Amino acid sequence: MNLRLLAALGALLCVCCSIEEGSAYTFRTFMGAEIATTAISSSALVQRPCECRALCGDGCVAVAIRRQPPRHFHCSFTDKTFADVTTGLTVPALDSRVFYKRLGCLPGFTLVDNVGCIYVSTVALNFTAAAASCPFDSQLFTANFLIDFNAMREYLLRNFSTSRLRFWIGLIRATDSTWQWLGGGTIPTTHPSPYWGQNDPNNPAPSCGGIHFEPGVSYLYHLADAPCATAYKFLCKQI
Ligand SMILES: *[C@@H]1O[C@H](CO)[C@@H](O)[C@H](O)[C@H]1NC(C)=O
Ligand SMILES: *[C@@H]1O[C@H](CO)[C@@H](O)[C@H](O)[C@H]1NC(C)=O
Repeated sequence: MNLRLLAALGALLCVCCSIEEGSAYTFRTFMGAEIATTAISSSALVQRPCECRALCGDGCVAVAIRRQPPRHFHCSFTDKTFADVTTGLTVPALDSRVFYKRLGCLPGFTLVDNVGCIYVSTVALNFTAAAASCPFDSQLFTANFLIDFNAMREYLLRNFSTSRLRFWIGLIRATDSTWQWLGGGTIPTTHPSPYWGQNDPNNPAPSCGGIHFEPGVSYLYHLADAPCATAYKFLCKQI
């Protein structure tokens, strides 16, 4: 299949089929990694990262996605299987993420389209305790791309929108002005922002990042910071 056709197919799958819906697998994410050159079996250039994942079809074992300025994403696919994907398949690369296919969600996790397997806690804990309490093989939710973040917001709005609510996610204040996802990657704090609520971040350090539902002030699961010692429910994502 030629590259242009492949890209068109990816876009179609991405829009029409909510990539992970109905498929037997989900993706395990490695931030800051790309597939080793020797293992790459094909590649494509697409408009959105989910198209890369959609194009990782039957024979594909993993896909690496990196931004290709100004507005494309580059996908590298591999069909090679490694016992240890972190050493056998991937090499470190700051601006790239590898999505490695795995079967299904663990018990207690819900498959959220374009996000992965998500666990919603029933208890409220401070940030540190929340991060330590994600079930086995999961971590506080982090967004790989804006499209993942928005897919998560949509899921929360559909399922948890009856009252004011806040969840801890895997976001911390790394320096006075830098907010960082646990596992790598930063997000800007400038406004207008697709991530932050209109008044955030606005807490003195140390503070931690949550995702906040409060329609009265237009927080529709947008980011808000809060003192890390506050107890909130939390969202974990299977790794
Ligand atoms: C979330 O909402 C969808 C429909 O909007 C429903 O199918 C799904 O079961 C809900 N999930 C949870 C965990 O409540
Ligand atoms: C967080 O909660 C744990 C368990 O309840 C407690 O031991 C710890 O001191 C708390 N940490 C902070 C910073 O509040």
